[in-house]
Amino acid sequence: MGNIRSFLLFICITLIHLFAINGEVAPEETLNTMTVGGGGAPLTEPLLATRGFQSDRLAQAYKVIQAFKKKVTYDPKNITKTWVGKNICRDYKGFICDVVPDLNKTTVAGVNFNNNNFNGPNLTVSELLIGLKDLAFFHANSNNFTGIIPSDISRLRYFLELDLSNNNFSGIFPYEVLHAKKLVFLDLRFNTFLGGVPPQVFLLQLDLLFVNNNNFRQALPRYLGFTPALYLTLANNKFIGGIPRSIGRAANTLREVLFLNNKLNGCLPYEIGLLKKSTVFDVGFNNLTGPIPHSFQCLKKMELLNLAHNKFYNEVPEAVCSLPRLYNFTATYNYFTQVGPQCRKLIKNGVLNVKMNCISGLPNQRSQADCAKFFSNRPTCRREKSMHYVPCSRGNSANELESSDVESTTAAPAPAPLGRSYGALTPH
Ligand SMILES: *[C@@H]1O[C@H](CO)[C@@H](O)[C@H](O)[C@H]1NC(C)=O
Ligand SMILES: *[C@@H]1O[C@H](CO)[C@@H](O)[C@H](O)[C@H]1NC(C)=O
Ligand SMILES: *[C@@H]1O[C@H](CO)[C@@H](O)[C@H](O)[C@H]1NC(C)=O
Ligand SMILES: *[C@@H]1O[C@H](CO)[C@@H](O)[C@H](O)[C@H]1NC(C)=O
Ligand SMILES: *[C@@H]1O[C@H](CO)[C@@H](O)[C@H](O)[C@H]1NC(C)=O
Ligand SMILES: *[C@@H]1O[C@H](CO)[C@@H](O)[C@H](O)[C@H]1NC(C)=O
Ligand SMILES: *[C@@H]1O[C@H](CO)[C@@H](O)[C@H](O)[C@H]1NC(C)=O
Repeated sequence: MGNIRSFLLFICITLIHLFAINGEVAPEETLNTMTVGGGGAPLTEPLLATRGFQSDRLAQAYKVIQAFKKKVTYDPKNITKTWVGKNICRDYKGFICDVVPDLNKTTVAGVNFNNNNFNGPNLTVSELLIGLKDLAFFHANSNNFTGIIPSDISRLRYFLELDLSNNNFSGIFPYEVLHAKKLVFLDLRFNTFLGGVPPQVFLLQLDLLFVNNNNFRQALPRYLGFTPALYLTLANNKFIGGIPRSIGRAANTLREVLFLNNKLNGCLPYEIGLLKKSTVFDVGFNNLTGPIPHSFQCLKKMELLNLAHNKFYNEVPEAVCSLPRLYNFTATYNYFTQVGPQCRKLIKNGVLNVKMNCISGLPNQRSQADCAKFFSNRPTCRREKSMHYVPCSRGNSANELESSDVESTTAAPAPAPLGRSYGALTPH
């Protein structure tokens, strides 16, 4: 993940030309600033405050950092010991300086506290997110931050990345992050947030959204697929209900999506088959059912497909076993009943695993009693016909869908997903 993170940061910062690569400031700048008032004129307050600092922004940052330092009572890596003196850019571990474009001043542009294990009785992010007014990123993976996220986050005019993963945040989703309109990276995994994830999150222009390993337990918002995120992980929560049909909206952007280990139910919407850029799709350990939609044969880039530990049934479609890039297809602990020659080939070479299903003639299957019990009361899908729809087939003529079933799909494969069009308005 570290790689994705720095890569995205690199892209953002280079593409946007947000900050010039320039941490050093010539001593003249300070000198010039100091003499602005003209010979002999008394120095005004703000100018006094900059004395010895590279800029007034750094003089302000100094106060903020020193106040924050008092709140860190546990610092096993002795990071805060470096927070002394006036040369923040050179000496202070965890603070990254850059020139902020609108002011053309050296400032604290980023915070990187990843893996610092900071703790304290009231260790909040507020001081820094309010006080460091030019922040572009705040990365604080693996600390013990707690409390709320200040709504002042909306005043950070260049704020791109927020990583609060593996901290001690709790309560409902931090709605304040919705004010950070430029955010491209939001990582809240490994906290103990509960309730739901608000629909508006999926309208932020994010590249990456990680909310896995919390206690979210509501239905996924219908707008889920409106997200332009490339990487979406919702795993290890308690989300209920179905996978929203809107997921097809993410066709041009979504690369990897993890629904793993929630309490999702219902059938897979055929719209998942529209995700032509996706390489990873994981719905393992849920309560999903129905057949594998035939649209899955359109997942031309799919590499890792995990359907394990659900209640899927019928055949494993040969066309899915023929996907060109598939290298791990896990279908264990379901109620599949058939595999054809192509799928058998994948079983033989270790790509497809169908352990604990109802496929007669294969080893390690469920008992006949188990299977009979399941099929005596087999759950059905509401949109049964759409399960046969193959959106990538030429002219879609080979399927027998009625127009009422296709209604929202006729639009789906071709049109610009909203994410893209909004995305054009923002720099990423
Ligand atoms: C931090 O400082 C303490 C006391 O000065 C020292 O015992 C400890 O080894 C230091 N830890 C690290 C990781 O440098
Ligand atoms: C920014 O400031 C530096 C010196 O502090 C100056 O050389 C440069 O021309 C300024 N750039 C802009 C765009 O004002
Ligand atoms: C947070 O504090 C608890 C209790 O002191 C500790 O067990 C845990 O490892 C800390 N977490 C991190 C990420 O430092
Ligand atoms: C914790 O810190 C926040 C932010 O500085 C402050 O508003 C709050 O009063 C503090 N709470 C306690 C219990 O000290
Ligand atoms: C986590 O935050 C709660 C308050 O929300 C606090 O009572 C608890 O001590 C914190 N745990 C750690 C390890 O800091
Ligand atoms: C799965 O769904 C069935 C109904 O289809 C329900 O009875 C069962 O409790 C659900 N299991 C879980 C773990 O949510
Ligand atoms: C394939 O994926 C499954 C589930 O995601 C995982 O448990 C398994 O280890 C993977 N197998 C290989 C060979 O990578």
